[in-house]
Amino acid sequence: MKAIQILGDISSPRVATNYAMTKPTPQNAEILIRVHAAGITGDEVIWPEPYTRETRIPGHDISGVVSALGPDYNGPLKIGQEAFVLISTDRGEGQADYAICRADEVALKPKSISYEEAAALPIPLLTAWEALLDHGGIKAGMRVLITGASGAVGILAVQLAKKLFGVEVVALASSRNHEALQSVGADEVLDYNTIGWENQLDKVDLVFDTVGAGILEKAWTVVKENGAIVTVGDPAPAWAFGQGEAVEAASHPGVRYKHFIVSPNSERLGKAAEMVDQGVVRPLLVKEFPFEEAEQAWNYARQRARGHKVVISFA
Ligand SMILES: NC(=O)c1ccc[n+]([C@@H]2O[C@H](COP(=O)([O-])OP(=O)(O)OC[C@H]3O[C@@H](n4cnc5c(N)ncnc54)[C@H](OP(=O)(O)O)[C@@H]3O)[C@@H](O)[C@H]2O)c1
Repeated sequence: MKAIQILGDISSPRVATNYAMTKPTPQNAEILIRVHAAGITGDEVIWPEPYTRETRIPGHDISGVVSALGPDYNGPLKIGQEAFVLISTDRGEGQADYAICRADEVALKPKSISYEEAAALPIPLLTAWEALLDHGGIKAGMRVLITGASGAVGILAVQLAKKLFGVEVVALASSRNHEALQSVGADEVLDYNTIGWENQLDKVDLVFDTVGAGILEKAWTVVKENGAIVTVGDPAPAWAFGQGEAVEAASHPGVRYKHFIVSPNSERLGKAAEMVDQGVVRPLLVKEFPFEEAEQAWNYARQRARGHKVVISFA
């Protein structure tokens, strides 16, 4: 089968195509997906995991068709059904003709969108959902700031925050993206290029930060003293992964703060598929590249502020 590989090491990654990889066979209760499209999270090249895998195949976001089921699989999926998947961040190997998945990673694909649009959704959507609910403790009536709100994670977070959780949403993004953010439900929009933006808004109960670094630092200024900050911006802050405390915590002792890595959740993916088909959640804009242009696709996906989620077509 054909697959994409990340060769080299984390300081000098090189994206390559390989037409002679071994097609995997599902074991136990695994599910084999014939991949039609795979989404790229550009920062995966700075995650350590791809470099630990023998195959060097990246990729966690896929859509395709159920092609085979392991001998112990007894769930509801049937061969031939269209699916979309978040393959766990510790496994990957989604950017290939065939990918091995687990039952808690797979949901039926939204019917109203293409394979490419579906492949763009799982990581951003589940990251937003997990951040807001599981780590942020979002509740109706809260006021929530979402940074990087025009990005893939951010724009889905704006939509979930508004339409699923009914909160007041402040979206931080370049002004060229403000209209789009208002059209999906942002109540207030701010431009991070405006000096002192962090002093121009009423304090919020929750910051969901998808940018990190300087923006994450400013989150401490805008969060209420009993509020929460959840971040996924890469590179992760120095205090992530149990590496100590945030320096700002000393002067904001009531603020909860958290960095996390997204987990698969087939139930939420299934609910999200329904919301997409009902027109409640708008899919991301995607830019498609054929498999042969994988290197260009990855280069493009690594640029900030592209306005599109990058997807590779395998079909
Ligand atoms: N930990 C996890 O489990 C997890 C999961 C998913 C993603 N992530 C990480 O989360 C981050 C966001 O992912 P994504 O897919 O949403 O990225 P994305 O689509 O590239 O969006 C990033 C957004 O950040 C904004 N931005 C860029 N530079 C900025 C700056 N200097 N200050 C403020 N905003 C800036 C841009 O907004 P404008 O265009 O409006 O300027 C852009 O829309 C990435 O670092 C990704 O690796 C982590």
